Amino acid sequence: MQVYFFTAGIESSELNELEARIRSRLPNMQKVAKLDEGVARVGQGGSVNHEQNYILSPMFGAQSFDRIINLAEQANLGVFSIFISREISASDYKRLVRTGRADWVSLQDAPQEILDIISRTSRPIEPGRDQSVRPVIVAFVPSSGGVGNATLAIESAMQMTLSKKTPSRRICLLDLDLQGSHVCDYLDIEPRLQMQDIIENPDRLDTQLFDLFVSRHATSGVDVLATPRNRGAAVEMNMAVLDALFRMISLRYDLVLVDLPPMCFDWTDQIISVCDLAVVTGFNHVPGLRRIAEIVQELKNAERSPPQIVVALNRCESRLAGGIARRRHVKTALGDQTVVYIRDDPAAVNHSLNTGIPISLTSHSNKVAKDVRALASVVSGLMPAATANRMSAH
Ligand SMILES: Nc1ncnc2c1ncn2[C@@H]1O[C@H](COP(=O)(O)OP(=O)(O)O)[C@@H](O)[C@H]1O
Ligand SMILES: [Mg+2]
Repeated sequence: MQVYFFTAGIESSELNELEARIRSRLPNMQKVAKLDEGVARVGQGGSVNHEQNYILSPMFGAQSFDRIINLAEQANLGVFSIFISREISASDYKRLVRTGRADWVSLQDAPQEILDIISRTSRPIEPGRDQSVRPVIVAFVPSSGGVGNATLAIESAMQMTLSKKTPSRRICLLDLDLQGSHVCDYLDIEPRLQMQDIIENPDRLDTQLFDLFVSRHATSGVDVLATPRNRGAAVEMNMAVLDALFRMISLRYDLVLVDLPPMCFDWTDQIISVCDLAVVTGFNHVPGLRRIAEIVQELKNAERSPPQIVVALNRCESRLAGGIARRRHVKTALGDQTVVYIRDDPAAVNHSLNTGIPISLTSHSNKVAKDVRALASVVSGLMPAATANRMSAH
């Protein structure tokens, strides 16, 4: 492990004092004036010995935060950045932690918190696992309750396991519809994610505890993270818990499908801002389309809008001659927005609910399974090509 102290060529008594304080605890720390030089050096070391290396960056001036985030995102394999400043805005902090490769400490907490971060993150990088590839994140955003958000997330996950393109991908279904959670019921498995165990101290979440939280769907090999349903007391969720979960998820999975609740919270915005694809689910009728159009607009206006948005219209009626009814209305309401139509099939869906086996696993030719394949193929398009060559944990 190597720790670098990045000065950006600045000399000041404040910086010297900080350096001395940190050096008292990290005597082997190396000072670098140029980040390019530092990043290049630690990058080489990182990929050879699979160790995590650190760049400590004091930020006393008014540096552009966007630049810093870019640096954190582009840092080489095995590099973790720790930024040190007097304060940081909540939104900047969120963006930073979300990179999964950076953290922040306040000036006053500098030596101790830096050591804490290092001890938490300095696990050797698993050989064969490219840490610079984070999982693909797909957010299922319901336009209202009961539109089939959970069903479509589940069926998409199942279709992804069947796709021959990249068979070794590891898939996680993260059920964050905390109050109306259905994913485990639909798959007939036990939810195991105990939020209260990590709410007080998210740093507690290590690989052993995470293992206890995972429910494996044996037939498909998909892992589910879901909390036991609790209609009474609201299950607490916050940014720190979400970060801790995603830190673990990033180590394990290639693809994460997130079932979001119909309500917005600050942490739902956070997921939207990191997702690679948002699937807005809803119904194909006038109020449904109107609501969907509003949500698509909100997503596009977000500070960090999803790079790709697909609307999934669920429970569509098909015309006798085949084809989907009311396509013209859809065009009027949603314009050029990419839309996937999933047909209504209460009999097949109910059978699936009663057996606990997703439709996609029992019937290749069922209309819901067929229609969901269109959605799954959009998701497949997001998967990095490297995934196929990576070691599978299964
Ligand atoms: N394509 C479909 N055809 C028929 N019923 C469906 C379809 N998709 C979902 N359903 C049913 O609609 C209900 C709501 O679905 P669910 O996935 O729980 O929605 P949400 O997560 O949005 O609350 C469930 O009873 C589900 O079985
Ligand atoms: Mg739901």
